[in-house]
This record gives sequence, C-alpha cells and structure tokens, in this order.
Amino acid sequence: LAQTPKPPLTVFLCAPRGFCAGVDRAIQIVELALKKFGQPVYVRHEIVHNKFVVDGLKAKGAVFVEELDEIPADHRDRPVIFSAHGVPKSVPADAQSRQMFFLDATCPLVSKVHKEAEIHFRRDREILLIGHAGHPEVIGTMGQLPDGTVSLIETEEDARRFVRRTDKPLAFITQTTLSVDDTAGIVAVLQERFPDIVAPHKEDICYATTNRQEAVKVVAPKVDAMIVVGAPNSSNSQRLREVGERAGCRVSHLIQRASEIDWAAFEGISTLGLTAGASAPETLVEEIIAAFAERHDVTVEIVRTAEETIAFNLPRELRDQRDAAE
Ligand code: F3S
Repeated sequence: LAQTPKPPLTVFLCAPRGFCAGVDRAIQIVELALKKFGQPVYVRHEIVHNKFVVDGLKAKGAVFVEELDEIPADHRDRPVIFSAHGVPKSVPADAQSRQMFFLDATCPLVSKVHKEAEIHFRRDREILLIGHAGHPEVIGTMGQLPDGTVSLIETEEDARRFVRRTDKPLAFITQTTLSVDDTAGIVAVLQERFPDIVAPHKEDICYATTNRQEAVKVVAPKVDAMIVVGAPNSSNSQRLREVGERAGCRVSHLIQRASEIDWAAFEGISTLGLTAGASAPETLVEEIIAAFAERHDVTVEIVRTAEETIAFNLPRELRDQRDAAE
C-alpha cells in the first residue's frame, strides 16, 4: 500500500530563543560546584525554572530545597547555591549566620536591579517595583530593602490607583522578564501621574527577554500556531506565549515537553512558530520539531531578529574549574 504523504509544515524557528547568559551561567555554577566540591551540592529554589534542567542536575548530585533550614544539620558544610532569580538579603545573611558556604547564581542583570533599588533607597526616594507578585525575582528584589519599603505595581490599574506613602521623590524599577509592551503601558501611566518619577537609566527588562519577545512578534503574525517551550512557572516563557497570542496567533501554547502537545489544537496547520523561554534547553526544541516531523513533512526556517553575544563571568570560587575544563 502506498503511504499517504505527510502534510507539509513550515516551522519558523525564532532566533534568539532559549538559554540566556544568566541561565547558562547559573547552570554552569551548579555543574562546576559539583565538580569542585563533589556531591551533594544544595540549591535553594529551582536554579532556573525548568524541570528538565533541574532533573538533570539532580541526577548529577544537586539537591534542591526551598529554604536553607531544609538542609540537614550534618550537611551544613556543603555548598549551597542561590538560584538565578536572586534572593532577599535575609538569605545570604542567614547562610552566613549558619556558617554555610554559599555561591550566588543570581543573574548579574537581576543584581543590577538590586543595586538600583539600594541607590534609590540611599537617595531617599520612594520606590515602586513593576513586577508579578510571588515570583522569586520580585521577592528577591523587594527583599533588598527593609519590609514595606517597596510598593509592587502589577498592572496599569495598580499604577492608576497607586497612592504615595511619603512625600519623597518617586523612582521605579522593574522585574527583568516582563512583557515589554505591558510595562511600557504601566510606565506611561506612572509618568503621566508623576512626571518627575525617576526611571532606570537603561531598561531593567533584560536583553534576553526583549529579544525573545521581538522575534515572536515577527513570527506570530505569519503562522497558524505558536509553541513556546518553557515551564508554567517561568515568567519570561509565559510572556512569550502572551506576545504570540496578542500578535494574532489563534493557537499559542506553552509546553514543557513533546508529550504535552495537544495535537487536536494543531490540526490542519501548515505553518508553526516555535520559540523557547530563557530557561528551556535547545534539546527540548529539537524534541518538539521531531514530534511534528512524525506527522508532517517539516521544513525549518530560522527567523533571526537579533544576535546575542553576551556572556557573564563565573563567581571567583569557580573560575579555576572553568579554566581546567577549557
Ligand atoms: Fe538574566 Fe534575563 Fe536571563 S535577567 S537570567 S539574562 S532572562
């Protein structure tokens, strides 16, 4: 019997996509710490929001905890690594008081926002943080300053309703992984209400977030469906899915693995946009393409909207490991 030919599918692959420099550095920190100090190495919170990455590191001897007090007393001499999202000041202070050795995998672009918060505080400004409640980065950034110092603004509505608590000059900072467009809307409301509000010198939304959203904006209008590879708790991945939807894509799904694909939703498509959040490894993108290739005659076209060359230094304690590996 002649096989029915597979229907053609063009996959428009967004570039840049996937790992950013901060995620790459954070994963390297765990891997090199395991190499240098042996197992177990503790990691406070998912090092990056991706189960595949976390499971891979667990298999190599990393142990993930949410708080330092979950680390058994007889393991307090083991290294503990703080995740890429950053931590409140109380966490390193706590580690120090327990005489623990810690390595900080906070993305340098998150640390930069922490520093801005401190500068505003020292200059006696009232600080607003644009971000999503409950996200570890927001908890970390708010936790750079005493409780109650920073007001969280999540929406334009929050910006409209915001009531200043002091007569100090106002300043705002943002989470690094927000929607570029939503944030612009929120900032516009704040600047209209408070023309003197101090804004970041250079955007707090990071280059990786901006570039990944930009690529989706170019691809989404020309495809029948979009897939963002990423985890539901990954802020930048969620934003990519929304950007796809807003750019007019009827189907815009966030999925972690090929096994999660809801095939009914992709019935009859002939073009697919594909990208990955900053914490999703490329192998998962390949897995998705392979899954579609079983049902379609797939052609992949790369749509590149930016080049990325940024890389961050490792913590001093691990540089010898990297040099040894080179
Ligand atoms: Fe850093 Fe942006 Fe990645 S803040 S961890 S470079 S998404």
